[in-house]
Amino acid sequence: MVNLRNRDFLALMDFTSEELQTILATAHDLKRKQVRGEAHRLLEAKSVAMIFMAPSTRTRVSFETAMTQLGGHAQYLVPETMQLVNKETWVDTAKVLDRYVDGIVMRMYNLERYGMARDMLKTVAENATIPLINAADDMDHPCQVMADMMTLQEKHSDLGSVRVVMSWAYSDRLKTAGVPQSMTVAAGLLGMKLTLAHPKGYDIDPKYLKFAKEASERTGGSIEVVHDLNEAVKNADVVYAKSWRGCMMNEQEDKAHRVKFKDWIITEPLMSKGNRQAQYMHCAPIDRNKEVTDEVVDGPRSLVFDQAENRLHAQKAVLALLLS
Ligand code: CP
Repeated sequence: MVNLRNRDFLALMDFTSEELQTILATAHDLKRKQVRGEAHRLLEAKSVAMIFMAPSTRTRVSFETAMTQLGGHAQYLVPETMQLVNKETWVDTAKVLDRYVDGIVMRMYNLERYGMARDMLKTVAENATIPLINAADDMDHPCQVMADMMTLQEKHSDLGSVRVVMSWAYSDRLKTAGVPQSMTVAAGLLGMKLTLAHPKGYDIDPKYLKFAKEASERTGGSIEVVHDLNEAVKNADVVYAKSWRGCMMNEQEDKAHRVKFKDWIITEPLMSKGNRQAQYMHCAPIDRNKEVTDEVVDGPRSLVFDQAENRLHAQKAVLALLLS
Protein backbone atom coordinates (compact mmCIF):
# COMPACT_ATOMS: atom_id res chain seq x y z
CA MET A 1 0.00 0.00 0.00
CA VAL A 2 1.35 3.41 -0.96
CA ASN A 3 0.97 5.94 1.85
CA LEU A 4 2.11 9.50 1.15
CA ARG A 5 0.53 11.07 4.23
CA ASN A 6 2.60 13.93 5.69
CA ARG A 7 5.40 13.64 3.08
CA ASP A 8 7.03 16.72 1.57
CA PHE A 9 6.70 17.10 -2.21
CA LEU A 10 10.00 18.75 -3.07
CA ALA A 11 11.35 16.68 -5.95
CA LEU A 12 10.13 13.70 -7.99
CA MET A 13 13.47 12.04 -7.21
CA ASP A 14 12.22 11.54 -3.63
CA PHE A 15 9.44 9.22 -4.85
CA THR A 16 9.24 5.70 -6.24
CA SER A 17 7.63 4.65 -9.53
CA GLU A 18 4.72 3.17 -7.59
CA GLU A 19 4.20 6.40 -5.63
CA LEU A 20 4.10 8.50 -8.83
CA GLN A 21 1.65 6.03 -10.38
CA THR A 22 -0.57 6.37 -7.29
CA ILE A 23 -0.57 10.17 -7.63
CA LEU A 24 -1.49 9.88 -11.32
CA ALA A 25 -4.25 7.33 -10.69
CA THR A 26 -5.68 9.59 -7.96
CA ALA A 27 -5.51 12.61 -10.28
CA HIS A 28 -7.48 10.81 -13.03
CA ASP A 29 -10.03 9.66 -10.44
CA LEU A 30 -10.48 13.15 -8.98
CA LYS A 31 -10.82 14.63 -12.48
CA ARG A 32 -13.58 12.11 -13.31
CA LYS A 33 -15.34 12.97 -10.03
CA GLN A 34 -15.10 16.71 -10.75
CA VAL A 35 -16.48 16.25 -14.26
CA ARG A 36 -19.40 14.13 -12.97
CA GLY A 37 -20.13 16.56 -10.14
CA GLU A 38 -19.42 13.92 -7.47
CA ALA A 39 -18.40 15.34 -4.09
CA HIS A 40 -14.80 14.65 -3.07
CA ARG A 41 -14.32 16.91 -0.05
CA LEU A 42 -11.28 15.01 1.18
CA LEU A 43 -9.71 18.01 2.94
CA GLU A 44 -12.77 19.42 4.75
CA ALA A 45 -11.72 22.34 7.00
CA LYS A 46 -8.02 21.97 6.14
CA SER A 47 -5.88 24.95 5.13
CA VAL A 48 -2.71 25.52 3.15
CA ALA A 49 -0.53 28.62 3.14
CA MET A 50 0.80 29.63 -0.29
CA ILE A 51 4.01 31.65 -0.47
CA PHE A 52 5.06 32.75 -3.95
CA MET A 53 8.39 34.58 -4.12
CA ALA A 54 8.03 34.69 -7.94
CA PRO A 55 5.08 35.42 -10.25
CA SER A 56 2.47 32.77 -11.05
CA THR A 57 -0.85 32.44 -12.84
CA ARG A 58 -1.48 28.70 -13.28
CA THR A 59 0.11 27.36 -10.10
CA ARG A 60 -1.42 29.85 -7.74
CA VAL A 61 -4.95 29.73 -9.17
CA SER A 62 -4.97 25.94 -9.56
CA PHE A 63 -3.82 25.37 -5.97
CA GLU A 64 -6.42 27.77 -4.61
CA THR A 65 -9.18 26.14 -6.68
CA ALA A 66 -7.92 22.68 -5.73
CA MET A 67 -8.30 23.39 -2.02
CA THR A 68 -11.79 24.82 -2.54
CA GLN A 69 -12.91 21.74 -4.52
CA LEU A 70 -11.43 19.46 -1.82
CA GLY A 71 -13.47 21.26 0.86
CA GLY A 72 -10.55 23.17 2.35
CA HIS A 73 -9.04 26.61 2.01
CA ALA A 74 -5.85 28.10 0.53
CA GLN A 75 -4.43 31.33 1.90
CA TYR A 76 -2.32 33.38 -0.52
CA LEU A 77 0.38 35.11 1.53
CA VAL A 78 1.75 38.22 -0.15
CA PRO A 79 5.47 38.14 0.77
CA GLU A 80 5.72 41.95 0.84
CA THR A 81 3.06 42.07 3.56
CA MET A 82 4.62 39.39 5.74
CA GLN A 83 7.13 39.99 8.54
CA LEU A 84 9.78 38.55 6.22
CA VAL A 85 10.21 42.19 5.12
CA ASN A 86 11.24 43.00 8.72
CA LYS A 87 13.79 40.19 8.54
CA GLU A 88 11.72 37.58 10.37
CA THR A 89 13.56 34.41 9.42
CA TRP A 90 12.30 31.58 7.24
CA VAL A 91 12.83 29.28 10.24
CA ASP A 92 10.49 31.34 12.45
CA THR A 93 8.02 31.77 9.58
CA ALA A 94 7.90 28.01 9.08
CA LYS A 95 7.44 27.33 12.79
CA VAL A 96 4.55 29.81 13.01
CA LEU A 97 2.74 28.54 9.89
CA ASP A 98 3.11 25.02 11.28
CA ARG A 99 0.84 26.01 14.18
CA TYR A 100 -2.00 27.19 11.91
CA VAL A 101 -2.18 25.33 8.63
CA ASP A 102 -1.99 21.77 7.28
CA GLY A 103 0.45 22.34 4.44
CA ILE A 104 2.67 24.95 2.81
CA VAL A 105 2.91 25.58 -0.95
CA MET A 106 6.05 27.53 -1.83
CA ARG A 107 7.67 28.94 -4.99
CA MET A 108 11.14 30.48 -5.06
CA TYR A 109 13.82 30.73 -7.77
CA ASN A 110 16.30 33.08 -9.47
CA LEU A 111 18.49 33.56 -6.40
CA GLU A 112 22.26 34.13 -6.63
CA ARG A 113 23.28 30.57 -7.34
CA TYR A 114 21.72 27.34 -8.58
CA GLY A 115 20.45 25.29 -5.62
CA MET A 116 20.02 28.24 -3.25
CA ALA A 117 16.22 28.33 -3.60
CA ARG A 118 16.05 24.58 -2.94
CA ASP A 119 18.04 25.16 0.26
CA MET A 120 15.43 27.73 1.38
CA LEU A 121 12.55 25.34 0.63
CA LYS A 122 14.35 22.64 2.61
CA THR A 123 14.80 25.05 5.55
CA VAL A 124 11.03 25.65 5.60
CA ALA A 125 10.31 21.93 5.24
CA GLU A 126 12.68 21.00 8.06
CA ASN A 127 11.17 23.56 10.43
CA ALA A 128 7.55 22.56 9.91
CA THR A 129 5.94 19.22 10.73
CA ILE A 130 3.39 19.67 7.92
CA PRO A 131 4.04 18.86 4.23
CA LEU A 132 5.83 21.39 2.05
CA ILE A 133 4.84 21.32 -1.63
CA ASN A 134 7.32 22.71 -4.17
CA ALA A 135 5.43 25.08 -6.48
CA ALA A 136 8.63 25.51 -8.60
CA ASP A 137 12.15 26.22 -7.44
CA ASP A 138 15.46 26.45 -9.27
CA MET A 139 15.84 22.65 -9.55
CA ASP A 140 12.38 21.11 -10.01
CA HIS A 141 8.79 21.81 -10.98
CA PRO A 142 7.23 18.56 -9.76
CA CYS A 143 3.59 19.73 -9.83
CA GLN A 144 3.90 20.81 -13.47
CA VAL A 145 5.41 17.52 -14.54
CA MET A 146 2.78 15.42 -12.75
CA ALA A 147 0.16 17.37 -14.75
CA ASP A 148 2.21 16.78 -17.92
CA MET A 149 2.40 13.04 -17.27
CA MET A 150 -1.35 12.99 -16.66
CA THR A 151 -1.88 14.79 -19.99
CA LEU A 152 0.38 12.31 -21.80
CA GLN A 153 -1.56 9.39 -20.27
CA GLU A 154 -4.84 10.93 -21.46
CA LYS A 155 -3.52 11.15 -25.03
CA HIS A 156 -1.44 7.96 -25.22
CA SER A 157 -2.53 5.78 -22.25
CA ASP A 158 0.74 3.78 -22.26
CA LEU A 159 3.66 6.05 -21.35
CA GLY A 160 6.08 3.32 -22.43
CA SER A 161 4.97 3.58 -26.05
CA VAL A 162 5.25 7.33 -26.54
CA ARG A 163 8.41 9.02 -27.87
CA VAL A 164 8.77 12.41 -26.19
CA VAL A 165 11.34 15.03 -27.15
CA MET A 166 12.05 17.56 -24.40
CA SER A 167 13.79 20.36 -26.24
CA TRP A 168 15.45 23.62 -25.31
CA ALA A 169 14.00 26.59 -27.20
CA TYR A 170 15.20 30.15 -27.57
CA SER A 171 13.93 32.93 -25.31
CA ASP A 172 15.55 36.14 -24.14
CA ARG A 173 14.24 35.36 -20.64
CA LEU A 174 16.25 33.07 -18.39
CA LYS A 175 13.91 30.35 -17.09
CA THR A 176 14.80 27.65 -14.59
CA ALA A 177 15.58 24.10 -15.69
CA GLY A 178 12.97 22.78 -13.25
CA VAL A 179 10.64 21.40 -15.92
CA PRO A 180 13.22 19.46 -18.00
CA GLN A 181 14.86 18.15 -14.83
CA SER A 182 11.60 16.94 -13.27
CA MET A 183 10.49 15.57 -16.67
CA THR A 184 13.71 13.56 -17.04
CA VAL A 185 13.23 12.02 -13.61
CA ALA A 186 9.55 11.25 -14.29
CA ALA A 187 10.45 9.65 -17.63
CA GLY A 188 12.95 7.39 -15.88
CA LEU A 189 10.57 6.41 -13.07
CA LEU A 190 7.58 5.86 -15.38
CA GLY A 191 9.40 4.05 -18.20
CA MET A 192 9.02 6.66 -20.94
CA LYS A 193 11.26 7.09 -24.02
CA LEU A 194 12.66 10.61 -23.65
CA THR A 195 15.07 12.48 -25.89
CA LEU A 196 16.58 15.61 -24.37
CA ALA A 197 17.57 18.03 -27.15
CA HIS A 198 19.57 21.17 -26.47
CA PRO A 199 22.52 23.20 -27.73
CA LYS A 200 25.79 22.52 -25.94
CA GLY A 201 25.87 24.52 -22.71
CA TYR A 202 22.25 23.78 -21.77
CA ASP A 203 22.87 20.38 -20.21
CA ILE A 204 20.60 19.64 -17.29
CA ASP A 205 22.13 18.99 -13.86
CA PRO A 206 24.08 15.70 -14.32
CA LYS A 207 22.59 14.35 -11.07
CA TYR A 208 19.14 14.26 -12.74
CA LEU A 209 20.40 12.54 -15.86
CA LYS A 210 22.21 9.86 -13.83
CA PHE A 211 19.14 9.21 -11.65
CA ALA A 212 16.83 8.97 -14.68
CA LYS A 213 19.11 6.66 -16.67
CA GLU A 214 19.42 4.29 -13.69
CA ALA A 215 15.64 4.36 -13.15
CA SER A 216 15.08 3.67 -16.87
CA GLU A 217 17.06 0.45 -16.64
CA ARG A 218 14.52 -0.81 -14.08
CA THR A 219 11.38 0.52 -15.77
CA GLY A 220 12.15 -0.14 -19.45
CA GLY A 221 12.33 3.52 -20.43
CA SER A 222 15.19 5.26 -22.21
CA ILE A 223 16.86 8.66 -21.92
CA GLU A 224 19.08 10.05 -24.66
CA VAL A 225 20.67 13.44 -25.23
CA VAL A 226 21.14 15.05 -28.66
CA HIS A 227 22.29 18.48 -29.82
CA ASP A 228 20.42 18.72 -33.14
CA LEU A 229 16.78 19.83 -33.03
CA ASN A 230 15.91 18.62 -36.56
CA GLU A 231 17.33 15.19 -35.80
CA ALA A 232 15.55 15.03 -32.43
CA VAL A 233 12.02 15.65 -33.75
CA LYS A 234 12.19 12.88 -36.39
CA ASN A 235 9.62 10.22 -35.38
CA ALA A 236 8.64 12.14 -32.22
CA ASP A 237 5.11 11.64 -30.91
CA VAL A 238 5.37 14.68 -28.65
CA VAL A 239 7.65 17.72 -28.77
CA TYR A 240 7.83 19.54 -25.42
CA ALA A 241 9.94 22.60 -26.12
CA LYS A 242 10.73 25.47 -23.79
CA SER A 243 13.66 27.60 -22.83
CA TRP A 244 15.81 26.99 -19.78
CA ARG A 245 19.02 28.39 -18.38
CA GLY A 246 22.29 26.53 -18.36
CA CYS A 247 23.16 25.49 -14.81
CA MET A 248 26.91 25.88 -15.49
CA MET A 249 26.71 29.51 -16.76
CA ASN A 250 26.12 32.75 -14.89
CA GLU A 251 23.44 35.14 -16.15
CA GLN A 252 25.76 37.21 -18.37
CA GLU A 253 27.43 34.14 -19.88
CA ASP A 254 24.07 32.54 -20.59
CA LYS A 255 22.65 35.69 -22.25
CA ALA A 256 25.70 35.95 -24.50
CA HIS A 257 25.57 32.23 -25.35
CA ARG A 258 21.84 31.85 -26.10
CA VAL A 259 21.67 34.50 -28.86
CA LYS A 260 23.53 32.02 -31.09
CA PHE A 261 20.53 29.67 -30.92
CA LYS A 262 17.57 31.80 -32.05
CA ASP A 263 16.85 29.11 -34.66
CA TRP A 264 15.80 26.74 -31.84
CA ILE A 265 12.13 27.63 -32.39
CA ILE A 266 9.30 25.14 -32.94
CA THR A 267 7.48 25.75 -36.21
CA GLU A 268 4.82 23.83 -38.11
CA PRO A 269 7.33 22.62 -40.79
CA LEU A 270 9.56 21.34 -37.98
CA MET A 271 6.63 19.59 -36.25
CA SER A 272 5.74 17.90 -39.54
CA LYS A 273 9.09 16.06 -39.40
CA GLY A 274 7.77 14.15 -36.38
CA ASN A 275 5.06 11.55 -36.50
CA ARG A 276 2.06 12.71 -38.53
CA GLN A 277 -0.03 13.41 -35.43
CA ALA A 278 2.90 14.75 -33.35
CA GLN A 279 1.73 16.97 -30.52
CA TYR A 280 3.26 20.05 -28.90
CA MET A 281 3.61 20.70 -25.16
CA HIS A 282 4.72 23.72 -23.13
CA CYS A 283 4.25 24.40 -19.42
CA ALA A 284 3.58 28.13 -20.08
CA PRO A 285 3.91 31.05 -19.90
CA ILE A 286 4.99 30.81 -23.54
CA ASP A 287 7.32 33.26 -25.25
CA ARG A 288 5.35 33.19 -28.48
CA ASN A 289 7.27 33.38 -31.74
CA LYS A 290 10.54 32.95 -29.86
CA GLU A 291 10.15 29.46 -28.35
CA VAL A 292 7.33 28.39 -30.68
CA THR A 293 5.20 29.97 -33.40
CA ASP A 294 1.56 30.99 -32.85
CA GLU A 295 0.59 28.52 -35.57
CA VAL A 296 1.76 25.59 -33.44
CA VAL A 297 0.47 26.88 -30.07
CA ASP A 298 -2.96 27.72 -31.46
CA GLY A 299 -3.15 24.77 -33.84
CA PRO A 300 -4.53 21.23 -33.50
CA ARG A 301 -1.22 19.77 -32.29
CA SER A 302 -1.16 21.90 -29.15
CA LEU A 303 -1.73 20.36 -25.71
CA VAL A 304 -0.78 23.47 -23.75
CA PHE A 305 -4.24 24.26 -22.37
CA ASP A 306 -4.87 20.60 -21.47
CA GLN A 307 -1.61 20.71 -19.52
CA ALA A 308 -2.72 23.89 -17.76
CA GLU A 309 -6.09 22.31 -16.90
CA ASN A 310 -4.46 19.21 -15.50
CA ARG A 311 -2.43 21.27 -13.04
CA LEU A 312 -5.66 21.46 -11.03
CA HIS A 313 -6.33 17.72 -11.02
CA ALA A 314 -2.73 16.62 -10.43
CA GLN A 315 -2.34 19.04 -7.52
CA LYS A 316 -5.64 17.91 -6.01
CA ALA A 317 -4.16 14.40 -5.97
CA VAL A 318 -0.94 15.58 -4.34
CA LEU A 319 -2.85 17.61 -1.72
CA ALA A 320 -5.32 14.81 -0.97
CA LEU A 321 -2.61 12.16 -0.60
CA LEU A 322 -0.27 14.28 1.53
CA LEU A 323 -2.76 16.16 3.71
CA SER A 324 -5.70 13.82 4.34
N1 CP B 1 3.62 26.63 -15.53
C1 CP B 1 3.55 27.41 -14.45
O1 CP B 1 4.10 27.07 -13.36
O2 CP B 1 2.81 28.52 -14.62
P1 CP B 1 2.74 29.77 -13.63
O3 CP B 1 4.13 30.37 -13.56
O4 CP B 1 1.74 30.69 -14.23
O5 CP B 1 2.32 29.28 -12.27
